[in-house]
Amino acid sequence: MINAPVILTEGLTRHFDDIIAVDDLNLEIYPGEVLGFLGHNGAGKTTTVRLLNGVLTPTSGKAQVLGLDPSTDGAELRRRTGVLTETPSVDERLTGYENLAIFAALFNIPPAAVESRVAEVLEIFQLTDRAGDRVSEYSKGMKQKLALARAIIHQPELLFLDEPTSGLDPVITRQVHTLIRELSRDGNHTVFLCTHNLAEAQRLCDRVAVLENGRMVALGSPAELARDLWKGMRLEVETTTEAIPAAIKALTAIPDTREVVQEQGHPVISLSLNLRDQVPGVVSCLVAAGVPIFRLTPKEPTLEDIYFALHENHKEMPA
Ligand SMILES: Nc1ncnc2c1ncn2[C@@H]1O[C@H](COP(=O)(O)OP(=O)(O)OP(=O)(O)O)[C@@H](O)[C@H]1O
Ligand SMILES: [Mg+2]
Repeated sequence: MINAPVILTEGLTRHFDDIIAVDDLNLEIYPGEVLGFLGHNGAGKTTTVRLLNGVLTPTSGKAQVLGLDPSTDGAELRRRTGVLTETPSVDERLTGYENLAIFAALFNIPPAAVESRVAEVLEIFQLTDRAGDRVSEYSKGMKQKLALARAIIHQPELLFLDEPTSGLDPVITRQVHTLIRELSRDGNHTVFLCTHNLAEAQRLCDRVAVLENGRMVALGSPAELARDLWKGMRLEVETTTEAIPAAIKALTAIPDTREVVQEQGHPVISLSLNLRDQVPGVVSCLVAAGVPIFRLTPKEPTLEDIYFALHENHKEMPA
């Protein structure tokens, strides 16, 4: 890569008494990337975000974010990043407009530009009509939208989003996705996205990192992770419910087919092959067994398949 990493960590570790919340994290994230940060509850995602913003100091190891050390240059760093925390607090006594205007000033947006920038982000999150109401009168999702608007008001080059779409309706969720994609498209904005929504991560992220008990167990694009997890290819065969037993029998008899399973509740069988060259053999074998074939397609694993496979591989790992 030509560009310097936006985030670089070396052995980043954080303990809370006997809990190792983040364990020897080594990450390099480059400008314009959308990195999905995945992991179960308590895996260490939020702690990592806090370490990367200098809100927490590491027990050992180090981080460099936008060329700064978060543990010593936290204040300067936080002026350049946008952060949507896990439980964002917006000032309930003020109006939505006032909340945003205060942050715009804090982030050094010139006074003459504040009004138009606030209007712009209010519009993005469809809060214009309610901008003059006190936040205490907002719904939960409206507060989340306001917190998101606040996180992006200064157009930060690095945006941390901790569960940005939790509590949002599908329309706004889609808008947030579009926004993230547009931000990263120009190559200058980097997004660090903690999410439990695997479909969201699959749609948006260039690479994903998966944490298990504070340790990163995978880092790569979903396609790369799938290649590491499953050799060969998976195939899906649609037949009829009646033909399922004959199809399973015929497919298991082919040498080198693996994991021949019926998709629950569907007349569909999926199986793994070592080589693409085996596909014609699968077809002739099914035809010979009198199994009707309605569809035969390669099956790309979803991020959800990848996530669960990684989890299976690492569940014996000590906490
Ligand atoms: N301030 C703290 N004091 C003590 N323990 C903490 C503190 N913050 C986090 N932890 C512990 O560190 C571990 C990681 O927590 P963290 O909040 O980073 O997880 P997470 O991946 O963000 O989980 P979630 O998906 O539930 O948000 C957990 O065991 C948690 O209890
Ligand atoms: Mg969290």
